[in-house]
Amino acid sequence: MPLDAQAPDSGRRALLEAWGVVKNFPGVKALQDMHLELRHGEVLALVGENGAGKSTLMKLLTGVYSPDEGQFLLHGEPLEVSGPRQALERGISIIHQEFNLVPDLTIAQNIFLGREPRYGGLLLREGELNARAQELIDSLQLPLDPRQVVGTLSVARQQMVEIAKALSFDAKVLIMDEPTAALNDAEVRVLHELIRRFVRPDTGVIYISHRLEELKAIADRITVIRDGRYIETLDTPTTTVQDVISRMVGRELAGDARPENVRDDRHVMLSVRGMSTKALLEDVGFDLMEGEILGFAGLMGAGRTEVARALVGADKMASGSVTLRGRPVHIASPADAAKHRIGYLSEDRKQLGLLVEQAVESNIGLSALQELFQTLGFVKDRAVRETAERYVGDLAIKTPSVALTTKNLSGGNQQKVVIAKWLVKDCDVLIFDEPTRGIDVGAKEEIYQLLNELARRGKSIIMISSELPEVLRLSHRVVVMSEGRVTGVLSAAEAGEENVMHLATMRFIGDR
Ligand SMILES: Nc1ncnc2c1ncn2[C@@H]1O[C@H](COP(=O)(O)OP(=O)(O)OP(=O)(O)O)[C@@H](O)[C@H]1O
Ligand SMILES: [Mg+2]
Repeated sequence: MPLDAQAPDSGRRALLEAWGVVKNFPGVKALQDMHLELRHGEVLALVGENGAGKSTLMKLLTGVYSPDEGQFLLHGEPLEVSGPRQALERGISIIHQEFNLVPDLTIAQNIFLGREPRYGGLLLREGELNARAQELIDSLQLPLDPRQVVGTLSVARQQMVEIAKALSFDAKVLIMDEPTAALNDAEVRVLHELIRRFVRPDTGVIYISHRLEELKAIADRITVIRDGRYIETLDTPTTTVQDVISRMVGRELAGDARPENVRDDRHVMLSVRGMSTKALLEDVGFDLMEGEILGFAGLMGAGRTEVARALVGADKMASGSVTLRGRPVHIASPADAAKHRIGYLSEDRKQLGLLVEQAVESNIGLSALQELFQTLGFVKDRAVRETAERYVGDLAIKTPSVALTTKNLSGGNQQKVVIAKWLVKDCDVLIFDEPTRGIDVGAKEEIYQLLNELARRGKSIIMISSELPEVLRLSHRVVVMSEGRVTGVLSAAEAGEENVMHLATMRFIGDR
């Protein structure tokens, strides 16, 4: 037991405490002797690698699971919650890593789900519902319309609905499990502002994030856990990101994974000319070489995801042409793209990418291998399992077995399963949209190594990321976009933060 994790001291009344908490799942010791102390009026960050046990601890706190051992204290009093509803009644509100919204309902209906005002307890008072939601939205200064259907919102806006919902309860403790994974910088600032307004002397926030740089801006203290164990709690002002990382991973990380130069004599794998869409893109053109990692940089809304979507036929091109291996192609849909051996790992893969009720091995291997082994059931099963095991090893996916149901993996490890699924498909062109979102620092390195390895083997990779350092580190060349256009293509040697930002902020006002 660490030195500062002694028995509860009655003189010191933290807002929320966890002592000696143990939680096991079949084959996994998720938490062992876990400790946590949230003080009044603070934002406490909780960090650790994918699968370290962060979400599990929060699910215990909010009654989703019950602990095998240990206790929780709220204002120094034992806290026992038998379910999420009861946790809310005790003033503990959580925004889960996986969204809990009902896509077919409106924003207002989602916020007040199960608590809707009704006439005589029966007929729904839609007007009042919307008015109450509007009031809440206004008080939080969010750009939302209560009548809008949640399924039509961007990921960032859905996140805002989750936040509004969590704050609609009179919460004393607000838990946020990776609230910023899908947000851009401006949206992150809005969220931080919301948190600052929420924190008062009688409230506190537990904040889980893999974006370690943001902790400086929002956290008062940082609790690090590793492999289900409490490691240390650091005061943010006297802590560096490097301090946090070394405690998180407990080992040295591999250094800079810069790509090798692409030989000049390589063939063009894919070229795009004059690509425009009704919504945004304007005369986009670029070449992707065999064995190249081509980074796409730009601000939110610059059109990077739109390029990927138009390329794989998810959105319609208004004009433009695509040439693949020297031949013109027409790609009608993502399925069609896959037939041309172009894979697209989309940004919102939570909804599109995974069959969470199925085993890890089915997700990784099945769709890719079933065409190959149509007739030989037995051989197929073995091939699927072996392939899955190889990728689980390569990507360090944390699971006791490839037969485990995918939803039982931690958030970041589910993400890795989606990546593995695309790697297995043996595409020639792979488009990754925000591949390292929600993935911890150590595992990011493993993914970088893997992308490099793929490029070395001759695969062509388009890599879209909002994290500029990541783009710069990994790309042979960088395509910079702004307002739906390509504003520059830089070689790895030319590309630096400054000139990329310059190109990314070019404006074309009144030019259309
Ligand atoms: N319902 C479950 N059944 C079986 N194993 C589970 C279940 N929930 C979590 N686990 C396992 O417990 C461990 C801790 O998972 P947890 O989700 O708490 O990690 P995390 O720290 O939140 O990671 P991430 O950063 O990837 O979200 C993992 O090995 C995970 O696979
Ligand atoms: Mg988690």
